[in-house]
Amino acid sequence: MSSLPDLSVDGLIRHLNASVSPAHSVEYSASRLLGAGFVETSFASLNEGLPPQGFIADAGILLAWKLPQQAIRQFRIVGAHTDSPCLKVKPLPDSGAFGWKQIGVEVYGGILNNSWLDRDLGLAGRVVLNDGSVQNVRIDQAVARIPQLAIHLDRDVNDRGLVLDRQVHLSPIWGLGQYRPGEFSEFLAEHLSVSASEISFWDIALFDLTPASLLGHDQSLLASGRLDNQVSCWAATEGLMSTSAHSGDTASVIALFDHEEVGSESTHGAAGPRLAWLLEALHVGTRTEFHEALSRSHCISADNAHAVHPNYPDRHEPAHRPLPNLGPVLKVNANQRYATSPESASIFLQTCDLAGVPHQVFVSKNSMPCGSTIGPITSTQLGIPTVDVGVAQLSMHSARELCGANDPALLARVIAHYFAV
Ligand code: CO
Repeated sequence: MSSLPDLSVDGLIRHLNASVSPAHSVEYSASRLLGAGFVETSFASLNEGLPPQGFIADAGILLAWKLPQQAIRQFRIVGAHTDSPCLKVKPLPDSGAFGWKQIGVEVYGGILNNSWLDRDLGLAGRVVLNDGSVQNVRIDQAVARIPQLAIHLDRDVNDRGLVLDRQVHLSPIWGLGQYRPGEFSEFLAEHLSVSASEISFWDIALFDLTPASLLGHDQSLLASGRLDNQVSCWAATEGLMSTSAHSGDTASVIALFDHEEVGSESTHGAAGPRLAWLLEALHVGTRTEFHEALSRSHCISADNAHAVHPNYPDRHEPAHRPLPNLGPVLKVNANQRYATSPESASIFLQTCDLAGVPHQVFVSKNSMPCGSTIGPITSTQLGIPTVDVGVAQLSMHSARELCGANDPALLARVIAHYFAV
């Protein structure tokens, strides 16, 4: 099936609904790239002559590229992350109490605890079987729920605030009766049409079953789980698909990493070596020429930004309050929590002008610690000048987030122009 680049919000909604785990996000983006004529290869084939338009998809990481007609003298890279804060099923999850069956979960990243309460939750992730094969699994049923304590049993919760112990109060229920060790594994096996004894290990998380939806009287907003950072993964993928092969000497690369929400330090994270492996394999020349190429290169690190919240305007620096649908946000931090430099910013701003896309600027308040993302990590690893940008959103790290319905396509347009320069 051939796929054309699709910058419509419906295209993004399909991406969001498909991307219920990092592996599913990678699988969906890979299917888009395959449809657009990109050729799949693997990290184990880096020495076998890489296709001029190709990708590598491995668990939660996806790297894709378009090579120029001439020898590569520089790279243009868009980085983003495929993971979102969530609840992951523990290796020995079967538990329960007082006639309730529960699943033991481990908190992944900085979730907003309360946002996971009273939602119907499905299961998604990867399962490795004893024969070494890996299967993505997605169970689109209301399998589990973390019920909030009734107001009658928690009378002062609204005044005191909801305090949840992450070990005690976040265990989902998933049935009634006496729990039995091995039951979760058997349930999983049934969905994979294998026997429980064939399952070796898994990386499975809960996800909110509610699909992405336009919101507002004018449908100007978009509500979904995992907007951070599927919006950027989608914009990077569709942006790369939109651009034609470069006639000059610039290679276009997208790098969608896993594990950003837990610090990026893993084989598949931005602090791992995989992007460097790829760039080195793509570049033909001496090691010194490779370093020269890196020094001429540029990277856009795309991750969502905080829009100003109308009920909490004091949380923003007064002169830097991003709003939805006013274009991508340039993120700046003097203390290098963002990688943005004057030079790297300037390339991004020029590209916005070229694409006819407005932009905004975010700087955090001095009294508020600034978040970070993959930008400073990739730029530290590779020495490539990097700019941190992203779509403005509310409720970051909630199970259900909110952004402008137009901004993702604006970011994708900037990325398409960035690769075309
Ligand atoms: Co993020």
